[in-house]
Amino acid sequence: MKNALIVGATGEVGKGITGELLAAGYRVVASSRRQESLESLLTRYPAESSLQIVQGSVEDEASASALLEAVRTKVDRLDAVIVSVNGAADMRPLVEWSSGDLLGALQQNLISHFVSAKTLIPAVADGGMYLAIGGGMADFVFPGNGHISMGQAAQRMMFRYLSNELSARPLHIRQLTIASMVNGEKKRDVAHPQWVTDTDVGQHVRAILERPDMFPDAILTLRSRKQVGKPEQKRSAEITH
Ligand SMILES: NC(=O)c1ccc[n+]([C@@H]2O[C@H](COP(=O)([O-])OP(=O)(O)OC[C@H]3O[C@@H](n4cnc5c(N)ncnc54)[C@H](OP(=O)(O)O)[C@@H]3O)[C@@H](O)[C@H]2O)c1
Repeated sequence: MKNALIVGATGEVGKGITGELLAAGYRVVASSRRQESLESLLTRYPAESSLQIVQGSVEDEASASALLEAVRTKVDRLDAVIVSVNGAADMRPLVEWSSGDLLGALQQNLISHFVSAKTLIPAVADGGMYLAIGGGMADFVFPGNGHISMGQAAQRMMFRYLSNELSARPLHIRQLTIASMVNGEKKRDVAHPQWVTDTDVGQHVRAILERPDMFPDAILTLRSRKQVGKPEQKRSAEITH
């Protein structure tokens, strides 16, 4: 049985990944900051003895190290680490942000990924995978979301660097940009049929974990439901490494 740590497992996207990896027979350690959300995950999978929970944060190195230490009391090997954290929405035009508030938003959306990568990549077993989830607003202007777009664009560039700088390490490093709204639990009632679902994301993540050879680029993008589980068609002039 393979072991996967999912940081942000209680989120809209994280829940879909958790469900799919459990269904695929992974032992899942689900993590986030709020214990009550983790406990509700446990009640959702009562028969799944392979789901464990660890409360913790990746906001800074000390917290992330404590989280990793707690994870190590649950599993002795990590075949996969998936990080699906997100900051608060807080939509407003960029010019209305103070520099301090903007730094806080980037702390939540970007630095949390930096801290996670720095702390958790070394914990992945040889041959395993570290996968960060990102968002398609990295490439779009969506009113009130400048802070999110900035964080997502920087996050993707950060993973280009990390995969390059750590290429000699015996693990796979990937970043998956979801270039679609996600039909997760909170948006079921308003979701458009073309949006990828949380389950779709889980299935795609599972395919990436199981067939890294079919997803060889460091930077991956899930654009549509039709693409779920399939390797990407290259677009001209797209940077993928
Ligand atoms: N939802 C969408 O429509 C959508 C679309 C495209 C891409 N995405 C991408 O998918 C990823 C996840 O988004 P989401 O919508 O699932 O977000 P979400 O629903 O807000 O979930 C975020 C998860 O991360 C946890 N978390 C946040 N900060 C943390 C920290 N410092 N340490 C540990 N856990 C932390 C949250 O739980 P706690 O608050 O309890 O810690 C929660 O489990 C993001 O990269 C986002 O850009 C989402």
